[in-house]
Amino acid sequence: MFDQISDNYDFLNRLFSFRFDVYWRRSLVKGAKLQDEDFVLDLATGTGDLAFAIKRHKPDVRVVGTDVAKKMLIIAKEKAKMKSVKIDFCQKKVNFLPFEQQSFDHVFISFGVRNFANIHGELQEVYRVLRPKGRIHIVDFFQQQSSVGKMFINLYVSVLMPSIVALFYKNKSAYNYLPNSIKTFYKSKKFKEIVSNCGFKFVEERKLSFGLCEIVRFEK
Ligand SMILES: C[S@@+](CC[C@H](N)C(=O)[O-])C[C@H]1O[C@@H](n2cnc3c(N)ncnc32)[C@H](O)[C@@H]1O
Repeated sequence: MFDQISDNYDFLNRLFSFRFDVYWRRSLVKGAKLQDEDFVLDLATGTGDLAFAIKRHKPDVRVVGTDVAKKMLIIAKEKAKMKSVKIDFCQKKVNFLPFEQQSFDHVFISFGVRNFANIHGELQEVYRVLRPKGRIHIVDFFQQQSSVGKMFINLYVSVLMPSIVALFYKNKSAYNYLPNSIKTFYKSKKFKEIVSNCGFKFVEERKLSFGLCEIVRFEK
């Protein structure tokens, strides 16, 4: 599905979020306390925006970005060339990562976990490739706790987003999926339980933009 929307993915991300997506990724990276010698994996990298934010913040870290969607990765690679940034992008599913165990100091996932089909399996694979004491950093839209938050999100993703999409596209089916995934993903409390059950130790959480999205960090 992401291949179908890859051409406009960055543009619509900025538009739908009023450019807050840039700030959300930057916050995820800044709070990760990266060291120059770290080896970092950006999982479900898409068009690579998080990987670029990491390199902007710490130019010396080695970054690999993986994603299942070929066309998203083509755009990521074009952007890396344009920016003259060295990032290895490769097409891989989260549950079959071609890396040895304990390879990475940090694994990042921005707006990706919501799309994972078998979250336990995928988190176990992350656990395998992380070094002991390595960290996983996640930012995503979790289900809102308060009724006001729920009402706002429902209104936004059910009314405003489809209206914007209708302005740009004849075929809207790919974009129907995104609002639904935002409305139906876990509450952050449940999600933290799931990650902890996969063997990770909870480190911290931070709500962004009045709780619209949230950062959670765990350690192996
Ligand atoms: C909403 S995009 C997020 C992209 C990027 N991280 C960002 O911050 O914009 C979700 C991405 O997850 C990828 N994805 C979903 N399931 C995946 C899986 N099982 N393995 C690898 N990538 C996956 C999709 O192809 C898509 O590029």
